[in-house]
Amino acid sequence: MAVREIKPNIYSVGAIDWDRRLFDELIPLPDGTTYNAYLIKGSEKITLVDTVDPTKENELVNNLKKSGINTIDYVVANHAEQDHSGAIPKILELYPNAKVLTNPRCKDMLVDLLLVAAGKFITVNDGESISLGDKTLEFIYAPWVHWPETMLTYLKEDKILFPCDLLGSHLATSDLFVSDEAKVYESAKRYYAEIMMPFRTNIKKHLEKIKNLEIEMIAPSHGPLYNRPEFILNAYKDWISDEVKNEVIIPYISMHGSTRRMVDYFVEALIKRNIAAKPFNLTKTDIGELAMALVDAATIVIASPTVLAGPHPSVVYAVFLANALRPKTKFASVIGSYGWGGKMLEQITGMLTNLKVEIIAPLVVKGYPKEGDLNSLDRLADEIHKKHKEQNIIR
Ligand code: FEO
Repeated sequence: MAVREIKPNIYSVGAIDWDRRLFDELIPLPDGTTYNAYLIKGSEKITLVDTVDPTKENELVNNLKKSGINTIDYVVANHAEQDHSGAIPKILELYPNAKVLTNPRCKDMLVDLLLVAAGKFITVNDGESISLGDKTLEFIYAPWVHWPETMLTYLKEDKILFPCDLLGSHLATSDLFVSDEAKVYESAKRYYAEIMMPFRTNIKKHLEKIKNLEIEMIAPSHGPLYNRPEFILNAYKDWISDEVKNEVIIPYISMHGSTRRMVDYFVEALIKRNIAAKPFNLTKTDIGELAMALVDAATIVIASPTVLAGPHPSVVYAVFLANALRPKTKFASVIGSYGWGGKMLEQITGMLTNLKVEIIAPLVVKGYPKEGDLNSLDRLADEIHKKHKEQNIIR
């Protein structure tokens, strides 16, 4: 990525990763990502805010060379995860006078993860400011988005918030600032779903903490920058709220068509009752799409055949993820089939320990669903409709 000025004496110096398709060897990245780093030339001190993934270290180094600087005084580490901190050792080697500015917890993690010498740090407190001459950095602790050491940095005079992962999006784009809000909304929602959703309660507190800051620009460490901050702040307000939508998501697997018949019938039954239905065939879906649907849906109905006396392993994987992501889903149920027995139902419901859901009576049928089973699916759809009505999800 070229060096680009975002405001006078503040530059974007990070890297675009067009080809990356998996993060943490877990999260699909259909649109790649960026690792944004920012160079602030204060009248007295030069600061780098975050670095890049180690695979893109050379791009950062070249950008710093192109920026015409001879020294770096501070490297702000908002987050210890390697996609932002991984190039810190290289920067400290090239700019030996640089000190890493971070909180004590992040310092410990950088010492552990990257073997940075403890003497290289200056630790900062929550709310503490550091002057760069004509510019001032303020540090705001914001732990658990999504690691325990995370913080935000606010550049007072320019009214820029550098929130690192928070409010970001995995989107490789040559746009410096958001130009296509619809596209970025999808990428940011996927990012929230996969990374931030389990920490919804913490994020609520952090957004409350920054609500009185004057913010003209948000410069995250993934995806394009926001010069209309209310766009992403309003999206987050919606996602972290307790409001759910009149939607049922149905992650499913079918081996020989019995569960598939149930899902097809059930989807129609929901549509007839004006409830949005989102089936996800787990052999085909991108698991990120399922995570995104979990951000808003009122209800999840898991559909599985019985294999090796339990749920299909792909369903186990999806349920494990859904449970780990802690969505605000209010109701859950299970449908599916079995040939001769097993504990599919108990094993699935036993995995939903993190979800504060009411379980609606499940329906597991023997073999291919018969008319009575289909009638039971109508009753399940009726029950979901009633629950959505009672909770004002259907108005
Ligand atoms: Fe972008 Fe948590 O790292």
